[in-house]
Amino acid sequence: MPLSSKHLLGMHGVPAEDLNMILDTATTFREVLERPIKKVPTLKGKTIVNLFFENSTRTRISFELAQKRLSADTINFSTSTSSTKKGETFKDTVKNIEAMKVDMIVVRHESAGVPSYLTKISDANIINAGDGRHEHPTQALLDIYSIREKLGKIAGLKVCIVGDIAHSRVALSNIYALKTLGAEVSVCGPATMIPFGMEKLGVKIIHNIDQAIAENDVLNVLRIQLERKAGTTIPSLREYHNYFGVTAERLEKNNKDILILHPGPINRGVELSSEVADGPYQIILDQVTNGVAVRMSVLYLLGTMN
Ligand code: CP
Repeated sequence: MPLSSKHLLGMHGVPAEDLNMILDTATTFREVLERPIKKVPTLKGKTIVNLFFENSTRTRISFELAQKRLSADTINFSTSTSSTKKGETFKDTVKNIEAMKVDMIVVRHESAGVPSYLTKISDANIINAGDGRHEHPTQALLDIYSIREKLGKIAGLKVCIVGDIAHSRVALSNIYALKTLGAEVSVCGPATMIPFGMEKLGVKIIHNIDQAIAENDVLNVLRIQLERKAGTTIPSLREYHNYFGVTAERLEKNNKDILILHPGPINRGVELSSEVADGPYQIILDQVTNGVAVRMSVLYLLGTMN
C-alpha cells in the first residue's frame, strides 16, 4: 500500500496507517545502517535537491546521507552561495531548479507554509524539513521511532514536551503524530512559552517540571529558540534553568525510569544540564542515528510512488 499523500508537509492529519508504515519501513533501513556496506540501490536514477534557506546540522546532513544510502543523486542548495543573493525570487529559484528535472525537493525555510506553497508550483515530491514555527515532520517521526525502539510501544505512553512550545515546530509535529498513535501528550513550560488555546489540541498543560517528570514516561525537551526571540518571554536563561531545567537532581528525586529526548541543538545548562545531556536517561544520539533510517524510509516511500 502506498502512503496517502505524495508529499510530507506535516504530521497534521496523517493517518496512523501512514505513520506505522514509515516507522516499520525505517526498521528495515535501520538494519541496513548496521551493514558493512550501508547502501541499497532503491532510488538509483532519482534526483533530489535539498533546499535549505535556514541553518541546519542534523536535518541537512541526515537527509543527504539518507539520499546517498538509497543511491539517489543529491544536490545541495544553500542561500549564501545562490543567485537569491542577486535578487532572484523564491519562485524563480524553484522553477529553475525543477527545469533541471528534479524528482524530489527537501525544503527548510524560516517561513511557515513554504513547503505547501512548493506543492503548487512544482510537480516534485515535497518534504518539509522544518518551516518556521509550523512543523518538522521527520523530527517527530524520528523521535517517535526512538521512543518505540526503547519502550516497545507508543499507545498508552505518557509523553511530555518541555520548554519553548510557542516557538517550536518540533512540538506541533510531535503532538499531532503522538496523539494519532494513541499517546497521552502534555506540554510543560512557563505560561509565556505555551501558546494560548493549546489545550484545544487535546494536550494537558503543566507549569511545574517536577510534576512533568513524576507523571510521564518520556520527556522531549526542546531548545529555547533564542534566534526566534524566545529570550524575551523569560526573565533570564539562568531563571529558566532554575525553574524548568531538567537536571540530574530532579531526575534522581523521581523514583522511576524516564526517557529523555532532545531534538538538538542543545543549549547546555539551559533546558538540560550537561550531566543529563550526557547521562543514562537520554537517547539523544540514538535519535540522530535513527533520523537517517527514518528519512530513508520517507524518501523511499514517496520516491517509489510515482
Ligand atoms: N533537530 C534539528 O532540526 O536540528 P538542525 O537544526 O541541526 O537540523
